[in-house]
Amino acid sequence: MKAIVVMDEAAGTAGMVLAERPRPEAAGNDVLVEVHASGFTPGELTWPSTWTDRLGRDRTPSIPGHELAGVVSALGYGTRGLSVGQRVFGLTDWTRDGTLAEYAAVEARNLAPLPGDVDFTVGASLPISGLTAWQGLFEHGDVQAGQSVLVHGAAGAVGSMVTQLAREAGAYVIGTGRAADRRTALDFGAREFVDLENDTLEDAGAVDLVFDVIGGDIGNRSAGLVRAGGTLVTIAGPPGARPDDGRAIDFVVEADRVQLKEIVQRVRDGRLRTVIGTVATLDDAVAAFNPTERAKGKTIVRVRP
Ligand SMILES: NC(=O)c1ccc[n+]([C@@H]2O[C@H](COP(=O)([O-])OP(=O)(O)OC[C@H]3O[C@@H](n4cnc5c(N)ncnc54)[C@H](OP(=O)(O)O)[C@@H]3O)[C@@H](O)[C@H]2O)c1
Repeated sequence: MKAIVVMDEAAGTAGMVLAERPRPEAAGNDVLVEVHASGFTPGELTWPSTWTDRLGRDRTPSIPGHELAGVVSALGYGTRGLSVGQRVFGLTDWTRDGTLAEYAAVEARNLAPLPGDVDFTVGASLPISGLTAWQGLFEHGDVQAGQSVLVHGAAGAVGSMVTQLAREAGAYVIGTGRAADRRTALDFGAREFVDLENDTLEDAGAVDLVFDVIGGDIGNRSAGLVRAGGTLVTIAGPPGARPDDGRAIDFVVEADRVQLKEIVQRVRDGRLRTVIGTVATLDDAVAAFNPTERAKGKTIVRVRP
């Protein structure tokens, strides 16, 4: 089968190559998915799970990309809950070969049915950003109606989901990002916007929850914005600073079928929109992941037309 592979962490996305790889087998409790569309999150090439298996053994050349939408084409021994021919979408195991390929073997429990009225391209754009937003807000951040939530990168893939879900949950959302992202963040439901290039972050005032997707200096300064009893949730690695009187949580997104169903239902009834940018073929994927100009929205690889 055709797949994108990576061999060298230092090369980043520039090291991606289109190659021939053996079609994977469905192991116990797996399904083999005929991939129709695949997503990729920018940070994953820096994560150890891209380069080694669970025991730390080198697993290169690795196939990156860990979200997919497609059709089940075979079942492994003991697999329950999904059937051959079923449309599915979901987040795959970070320590196994991924979804930038014509086929991917995935544990069935990582996937949810993809309703017939949701396009594969949309389905592939949802798992990482949707689940990350859901888990950060509701499981780790315990957001409540009436609370204030500062969402960094509110026009980005994760941040736009956080903004919409927090707003739906009844929170007052302050989005942040680059100057050019103000309109997009407000359109997603932010009530205010902090332009990180020209405004002073601290002017946002104290909030109940900060959802940080940027880290570094912005993450560190955000700890000081969390009011007593509040929470800093970050997905950009361990926080360098913690709130004086609050919680700091960093986490890595996990697969969850029930949450995927909640997310896709919101897409169907118009409560949730994804930001899809470039849609490329597998043949054009390497170029799409190495854009020469700033790419807006999530890049999706449409593996089958
Ligand atoms: N821990 C986890 O489970 C998990 C899950 C998903 C994603 N992540 C990580 O979270 C990060 C965000 O992912 P994403 O898919 O949402 O990326 P994304 O779509 O690129 O969104 C990030 C947003 O933040 C903006 N931004 C970044 N740095 C900024 C700065 N210094 N000032 C102002 N705006 C800035 C970006 O603008 P520009 O595009 O202009 O830079 C973009 O709008 C990535 O590092 C990803 O690897 C972690």
